[in-house]
Amino acid sequence: MINFNSHLTLAHDYWKQYLKPGARAIDGTCGNGKDSLFIAKIILTEQGGELCCFDIQKKAIETTKSLLKENLSQKQFERVVFYEQSHERFPKELFGTDLIVYNFGYLPGSDKTITTMTSSSLSSIENGLSLLSEGGMMSLTCYPGHEEGEKEEKATFAFCETLENERWKISYHKQLNKKSAPSLIIIQKKAFN
Ligand SMILES: C[S@@+](CC[C@H](N)C(=O)[O-])C[C@H]1O[C@@H](n2cnc3c(N)ncnc32)[C@H](O)[C@@H]1O
Repeated sequence: MINFNSHLTLAHDYWKQYLKPGARAIDGTCGNGKDSLFIAKIILTEQGGELCCFDIQKKAIETTKSLLKENLSQKQFERVVFYEQSHERFPKELFGTDLIVYNFGYLPGSDKTITTMTSSSLSSIENGLSLLSEGGMMSLTCYPGHEEGEKEEKATFAFCETLENERWKISYHKQLNKKSAPSLIIIQKKAFN
């Protein structure tokens, strides 16, 4: 048997292929900070790069802050901005962002009722796409194994299908014979030539 990469490994591979030192990224659901750290190590240098971490839970922001503080240099850490608020509306100053990532669902090992919700996730995706730089990328991991997650995944697919093919390139990965398997959607804004 070969090993299929998990949706998160695949997501990280896409981010790594695309990101350059000095880029600006948003982690829309920073949770325990693992994705934020992965991104921070690629884009943050002593002189450049910016990472914006969003989460509605104080605990998530604090965990992410300490993970990044422990694993980055002081100068890199100073390039991270934390927002203890919903990703539903990103500040307009974030126009020109290269990567926006969402890892939907609830914080592992925490209150499962505090989960991303279909309607705010969709508003955030729509708003986030308008902030992307030319060639910019959005990465979404969906968890249809719980009720709200299933709704969120369906609505995200339906929204993605409305995006014009001339402007957006979209790929989708999922283990097809397991309904509850997580899925990964990558959206890339086609650069004007
Ligand atoms: C699956 S976890 C994220 C895991 C994280 N990416 C990591 O690497 O550890 C989902 C997170 O989304 C957060 N969340 C839920 N609704 C949100 C919202 N409207 N805006 C921002 N974060 C939200 C939850 O608090 C939770 O921490």
